Amino acid sequence: MTISLDALDAFRHEARSLDRADPLARFREEFVFADEDLLYFDGNSLGRLPKRTAALVARSVEAEWGGRLIRGWNDGWVDAPRRVGDKLARLLGAGPGEVAVSDGTSVNLFKLAVSALRARPGRRTIVTDALNFPSDLYVLEGAAALLPAGHRVVAVPSRDGIAIDAEDLYASITEDTALVSLSHVAYRSGFLHDMQAVTARAHAAGALVLWDVSHSVGAVPIDLEASGADLAVGCTYKYLNGGPGAPAFLYVRRALQETLQNPIPGWFSRHEPFSFGDGYEPARDLSRFLVGTPPILSLVAAEAGVDLALEAGIGPAREKTLALGEFLVRLWETLLETRGVTLRSPREAARRGAHVSFGHPQGLAVDRALIGEMNVIPDFRPPDVIRFGMSPLTTRFIDLVEGVARFKRVLDEERWRRYAGEGPAVT
Ligand SMILES: Cc1ncc(COP(=O)(O)O)c(C=O)c1O
Repeated sequence: MTISLDALDAFRHEARSLDRADPLARFREEFVFADEDLLYFDGNSLGRLPKRTAALVARSVEAEWGGRLIRGWNDGWVDAPRRVGDKLARLLGAGPGEVAVSDGTSVNLFKLAVSALRARPGRRTIVTDALNFPSDLYVLEGAAALLPAGHRVVAVPSRDGIAIDAEDLYASITEDTALVSLSHVAYRSGFLHDMQAVTARAHAAGALVLWDVSHSVGAVPIDLEASGADLAVGCTYKYLNGGPGAPAFLYVRRALQETLQNPIPGWFSRHEPFSFGDGYEPARDLSRFLVGTPPILSLVAAEAGVDLALEAGIGPAREKTLALGEFLVRLWETLLETRGVTLRSPREAARRGAHVSFGHPQGLAVDRALIGEMNVIPDFRPPDVIRFGMSPLTTRFIDLVEGVARFKRVLDEERWRRYAGEGPAVT
């Protein structure tokens, strides 16, 4: 016990000096901290509220909606998905006219998956992996079932539940593969795929590649152009701090924009939608992947989050989350490993995104005790994984020390026992 306290003090000392040297420390001023004692490690699920967002949304509600009413569409609303997309493109290594922000991630994935499958007639396999987000797997299965050719989804298994072996993945990509669709960072373990290498392998086999970058955008450098990626989707409510239900984005490489067809040909995807013309004619650029009326108020919030991420810069953001991750793994080795907590993320920092996952046989009860009694919010993913997400703009090293100290107390005092049993609907 004494050793642990000494170790904690040494970590506290180190954390304070790391926080003082943090070039992104000033960004905490940009966010709302309603409860200073709360240790929030769920920015990989829902990022914090930027202070500017509240003001910008209020202005949009009052001055634009309240004051301008329908005229707002011509004052800029109608261009918002593409305008915010062009900003976001800078975080994705994409060019202007290649990214649009609208709809949800699952919907965007569906649109792009179906359009890709139709662009590879004669090929019937979609390759993904077992660590992909369940919604992505459901959507890919749904896309396969919709097409008449008998498409099937091959989900490459993980050998250890943490990572996907590159050779296993490459062995699954064949001449029958129409589409390779993967999450860049795996939602449960944080495993990071090598986007460039996987894309090259898929292209060598003649397949298209669709990346879900929900868990990397704003935290991990992404270069869609350099990696040769064809398509991508992602959300703006995690590391981009766009707010609950913020619209997602989609990327379509410019060279593909005129050949792929959106399977949901809503009016916003039509050439000259306000001609209200008979018959459908797809827009001649990226707009053909839109569907209907964009969520303007949520786009205002998403844009504020994108602006903040651009101001911080993805280089410093990655450096910080790598350092936070290493620090957290050292805390785990010293204080949690001997207490039955396992590491459920890749050990090597370069193979992880910005969250670190731990396993415990009573994972859900431990997570609930941390939230209910310790004012610590990580999150839980079945069957037994507790995730600690590190937000580059708001998480401090000292937060990790105090979070692990509280985690240790839950275990030492067996506080989780009170929470064994049924959990809440959203974990
Ligand atoms: C990797 C990944 N893909 C897709 C989704 C689902 O996104 P949406 O709810 O916007 O459809 C999530 C949600 O957390 C996710 O983490």
